[in-house]
Amino acid sequence: MKTPQRFSRRDFLHLLLLAPVSGLLAACGRALGLEVATLGPSDPVGPSPTAEPGTAATLTLPPTPACGDDDDEPTVAQTQGPFFTPNSPQRASLLEAGMPGVYMLVSGQVLGTDCQPIPGALVDFWHADADGIYDNVGFRLRGHQFADEQGRYQLETIMPGLYPGRTRHFHVKVQRPNGVVLTTQLYFPDEADNARDGIFDERLLMTMLPAENGVHGEFDFVLE
Ligand SMILES: [Fe+2]
Repeated sequence: MKTPQRFSRRDFLHLLLLAPVSGLLAACGRALGLEVATLGPSDPVGPSPTAEPGTAATLTLPPTPACGDDDDEPTVAQTQGPFFTPNSPQRASLLEAGMPGVYMLVSGQVLGTDCQPIPGALVDFWHADADGIYDNVGFRLRGHQFADEQGRYQLETIMPGLYPGRTRHFHVKVQRPNGVVLTTQLYFPDEADNARDGIFDERLLMTMLPAENGVHGEFDFVLE
């Protein structure tokens, strides 16, 4: 469990770093003609109300593992599934003109179990489109990038759509330079289908951060 002090410092830094970028990216999303949702405090993707107003527990976050927590284990692996395509293009934005969907930013850090960032780590995402369909011919909604000097990655995309048998998710491969590839998936809090998905793992829940437009999920990967 994170302490309130840790929450404040960590998330303040994230907001400080990402807030201006989010606004700019949201504007780009609008320029591309994407359907951009404006979220209010009652929308389901926001931080979960976990306690009565005014109590310290209102700062409680979803149980996303983060380096330095009591549970700073390496990020758990998950099945690759049937829709991985190797050699995705290098790009930090999967948005394309006219692409339907809700604008989404995914960001975080790639860290070692020693809590140190891993510059140059590979982060390769692929996911379904707004209708729950994968592009298994080309590279639509597929792309890889390399973490910066602070181990940070940032992906612009749309919220993955649902398809039968699965809850909403991203697929991702993460690899430190010349290291072992971690294949896993990321999930959304407050998705009704999480409870019905046998692959879902709450240790892979993103933390949803405030977003001016669309949604913003954060997840830090911890590699062996
Ligand atoms: Fe999938």
